[in-house]
Amino acid sequence: MLLSMTMAAQAHAEVSKASFGKMPDGTAVDIYTLKSDAIEAKITTFGARIVSIKTADKAGKVDDVVLGYDTLDGYLADKKTYFGAVVGRYGNRIAHGKFTLDGKTYQVPKNNDDNSLHGGTVGFDQHVWTAKEIPAGVEMTLVSKDGDQGYPGTLTAHVRYTVHHNALRIDYSATTDKDTVVNLTNHSYFNLGGLGSGTILDEEIMLASDKYTPTDAGLIPTGELATVEGTPMDFRKSTVIGKRINDDFEQLKRAGGYDHNWVLRGATGETKTAAKVHDLKTGRVLTVTTTEPGVQFYTGNFLDGSFHSNGVTFSKRTGLCLETQHFPDSPNHPSFPTTELKPGEARHWTTTFTFTTEK
Ligand code: BGC
Repeated sequence: MLLSMTMAAQAHAEVSKASFGKMPDGTAVDIYTLKSDAIEAKITTFGARIVSIKTADKAGKVDDVVLGYDTLDGYLADKKTYFGAVVGRYGNRIAHGKFTLDGKTYQVPKNNDDNSLHGGTVGFDQHVWTAKEIPAGVEMTLVSKDGDQGYPGTLTAHVRYTVHHNALRIDYSATTDKDTVVNLTNHSYFNLGGLGSGTILDEEIMLASDKYTPTDAGLIPTGELATVEGTPMDFRKSTVIGKRINDDFEQLKRAGGYDHNWVLRGATGETKTAAKVHDLKTGRVLTVTTTEPGVQFYTGNFLDGSFHSNGVTFSKRTGLCLETQHFPDSPNHPSFPTTELKPGEARHWTTTFTFTTEK
């Protein structure tokens, strides 16, 4: 029954492809449209990015609920926000851009003060991925050569985006020819009120987590798994995001808001709910499920209004990210779930964004 329903939902999905322009070196960039009965997602081969997700609110009004640009030029001019991108080879930070693997120390680019962020100066977000249509979606592939941004091993990454009724599912997989580390996630900024509707501070969020990884001043985890109990990090019950964001709490002051990794309940590899966001005005609800062990909840604190698209200014806290992933700086924390990948292993992980409405 479930299988036939899934197949029926897939049968309704339409996939089409168009040109999204050319890179400065002439490489062609495409944009795929994935359309089900309930959502329409646009994905570009530049950075395997989600460009838009259109879905209805409780009154049936359709809006785009992720931040992004209409044109490739918009993405090329913005090297800061990672709008909608697949970030890698290592999503989030590696302390001092340094880690040791099999007794050898590797140095990757420091592009965030003294640390490496989202894979380095030319991360996966800056590459044109190859793409092929698959049932209900598109599969993007990137081959990152041995030594790319200082990382060992040729890494082949596949990211599949598929739509199933009201859900956008992302399946990641990676293989390598030498021991390496990998942590890929999607860096979409959601605003369930719709693009241009203001900040996300009035939205409510639930994070299915009892612990988070506190950070130092450079946003590198200290290694501790701290309880959320009695702190503004406690989102076990759905809570308005803006309620405690400016509290006198050292962790929030360091990051200028929420920008932390929450430790999800359940095992790595097991599908579980990570988060649920509710926009009270439009009634839109986003539920995030994943097989990953953590989620970086980031409230767009560093959006500073310097980027715009179609009259919309991307100002502070106008979008929120739910980056389901392994913990930041895992290669330097043997107690964290491992991000090491060895030849012969094929790692597969998945995240699904489901959109519903509530009155
Ligand atoms: C990080 C933020 C960073 C942002 C870049 C997030 O994943 O946690 O600190 O500013 O990405 O857009």
